[in-house]
Amino acid sequence: MFENFNIPQELRPTDPRFGSGPSLVPVEFMTKLAETGTELLGTSHRKPAVKNLVKEMQEGIRTFFNVPSDYEIVIGNGGATFLFDMIGLGLVRKKSSHFTCGEFSSKWYKSHANIPWIESENIAGDYGHGSKASNVDGSDFIAMTLNETSTGVQNIDLPEVDADTILAVDATSGAGQIPCDISKTDVFFFSPQKVFASEGGFFVSIMSPKAIKRSQEIAELDRYIPTIMSWDLAITNSIKNQTYNTPSISTIFFLNEQVKLMNSQGGYSSAIEYAQKKADMLYSWAQEKPYLDTYVKGESDRSTAVACIDVDDKYPAGDLIKVLESQKAVYGIDAYRKLGKNQFRISLFHNVSFENLEKLTKIIDLAIEQA
Ligand SMILES: Cc1ncc(COP(=O)(O)O)c(C=O)c1O
Repeated sequence: MFENFNIPQELRPTDPRFGSGPSLVPVEFMTKLAETGTELLGTSHRKPAVKNLVKEMQEGIRTFFNVPSDYEIVIGNGGATFLFDMIGLGLVRKKSSHFTCGEFSSKWYKSHANIPWIESENIAGDYGHGSKASNVDGSDFIAMTLNETSTGVQNIDLPEVDADTILAVDATSGAGQIPCDISKTDVFFFSPQKVFASEGGFFVSIMSPKAIKRSQEIAELDRYIPTIMSWDLAITNSIKNQTYNTPSISTIFFLNEQVKLMNSQGGYSSAIEYAQKKADMLYSWAQEKPYLDTYVKGESDRSTAVACIDVDDKYPAGDLIKVLESQKAVYGIDAYRKLGKNQFRISLFHNVSFENLEKLTKIIDLAIEQA
């Protein structure tokens, strides 16, 4: 249907990457990395060049999120999926309750459900809707997802939990531009390949004194925890600006560049505002056009980091995506594969500019209106 569509030159985005993860790494970051020459890549992570980089990144994150001084910025290899297991093994006493609303929150629940010595409860909401997390009597661990990347739903209300209960937030695709008061969470974690414009395979887990105490309590129990998943090793290494095992230095470099960039642009509040401005533009476009609609109906549930836009079945989104990709103009706007919807899923991550998103809306309009 769209094979003859040609993107007018003036509508070509300056960067084609609109994917929801990994997100676009600015080309300038790559140039800067190349400029480090022989001084960084190929250096031990126990030597000053890398330790200083890690320190700068950790301090930048502390400033950006206004992290309380008694919280630790814990880092390590493996990403958020790795943390699902590491958290289940090392931070849950007897029972974890999971507020799920899509693929990633469900994956976290399933990883805990596989651990025989804890009980896991799935409090499932419908796809396309937010899940309101709350304290659960009898649970010592509450799991919620700040931004459900598969459905473009955000959950910004944090529950008050019992004094001895851990509130953990998977903030992988929302951290940095969806509001969250970290001082009201115990574990706030993310992988850096979304808002923080880096690459995968790495995690940042911001932990309260309560969460650290819990990790120590569990470590003393007679439970087997693989050494690579030891919270004690992750925490003690992070305090020394290191990781337990060898990290990808370029990943840390890109993450640090993005944190510096976002801090220099007004910090967290400005990033939240910019994300909201882009989301408002995109969602009102989807509502105005007769052939589009917002997948998420509840206004406050709509993510300001990942927007899912339904398309009238008359116009196969996948066909248009192929044409845009073949012209090297727009990459990565496919719906989450398991959702199976005729949909565009568009990243609003910090480096995806308002202007390029506007161009994308015009390209889609033109293609569909000419079809
Ligand atoms: C909300 C959420 N949680 C967890 C993950 C898994 O992250 P990783 O692939 O870094 O393990 C993702 C990845 O997209 C995600 O969006």
